[in-house]
Amino acid sequence: MKKNNLANQPLQLLGGISVRKFLSTYWQKKPLLIRQAIPGFTGVTGLSSRQEMLQWVCEDEVESRLIEQVKGAWKLTRSPLPKNVQKRARTSPWTVLLQGVNTLLPEGDALMRQFNFIPSTRLDDLMVSYATDGGSVGPHFDSYDVFLLQGMGERHWQISAQKNLDIIEGAPLRILKQFKTQHEWVLEPGDMLYLPPKYAHHGVAQGECMTFSIGFRAPAHEEIASHFLNHIQDNLCIDGRYADPDLSIQKHPAEISADMLDKVERVLKKIQWKRADVAEFIGCYLTEPKAHIFFDVPEQPLSPARFRQKIGKTGIKLDLRTQMLFHKDRVFLNGEPYVATRDDLAWLKALADHRMLPSLKPCSDAAEAVLYEWYCDGFLHP
Ligand code: SIN
Ligand code: CO
Repeated sequence: MKKNNLANQPLQLLGGISVRKFLSTYWQKKPLLIRQAIPGFTGVTGLSSRQEMLQWVCEDEVESRLIEQVKGAWKLTRSPLPKNVQKRARTSPWTVLLQGVNTLLPEGDALMRQFNFIPSTRLDDLMVSYATDGGSVGPHFDSYDVFLLQGMGERHWQISAQKNLDIIEGAPLRILKQFKTQHEWVLEPGDMLYLPPKYAHHGVAQGECMTFSIGFRAPAHEEIASHFLNHIQDNLCIDGRYADPDLSIQKHPAEISADMLDKVERVLKKIQWKRADVAEFIGCYLTEPKAHIFFDVPEQPLSPARFRQKIGKTGIKLDLRTQMLFHKDRVFLNGEPYVATRDDLAWLKALADHRMLPSLKPCSDAAEAVLYEWYCDGFLHP
């Protein structure tokens, strides 16, 4: 089916409107409540109950948080969480949050990929929360778009388009000083609420509940600029050295002369970049694994010949933690660029889009070698 037809088709996930309508009317503009976005949804395999959630949040290598409301005061504990987290938080309402569920569970990744009508460059991660009755993270706003999909149980959401986004100073969480409810709903399993950035919201569990947040990536301009400057610095190559055969006598030896500034300015103007450098930077930056991400290398790797044979039959799939993007002939995988030949480009693009290939047709020696390298790094699996 053509891309345009897909964009115009009504989607249950979006409450019966098309992607085109969603993008033009709601995305980054206004909230959308969707009843039964995913009918029958209560969670993903491996994460749909209090017990499973408590096991996950106490794992060593995950990013998790415990939020308690102790006698009206907010308390935040970051991972690694104590193994007896459940006992510590017995008396007052509490919430545990688990980031990056898409990197932990295949169904978490599959759930997040249902939102791939938004480009992968903007998708961030799937966060899951579990709260006891009355549990909440307080009234707040996020700097990025979010789809809040209700898993098991019910949550009462209040939202507000208020302009006053002042937060309580000194609190361990970003809690709004004032929150004026404009709309409210109780979300049941499978219901979903889309919120644009900076939209005030407050979700309180009614009985125990789990909420799945599909979060988006929107780096601050300053972050983009400073990472770009680092990238340029790493790739900088400027010849020459300061020279002044025309040096003139100065009245004040300590003065920085206009002539020196001219010369330095001319050197700095040599720092230039092309659009291809911007593409290289953004590809590496967006696919760079987050700080806590580590890949598991195969304990007994297949030989290159055996690997080739296997992927020819069974194909390949990206590791859940792998980030892959492309621009023109540049493929970016976990922060590293790779220049593809024209023949390899089509299947490398398909791999980046679908995160798997059912079988691999013969490819160039260079591509085969890099696939094997990625396999040995744990970035993909046969
Ligand atoms: C939650 O799931 O408890 C909070 C999610 C959010 O407000 O962004
Ligand atoms: Co939020």
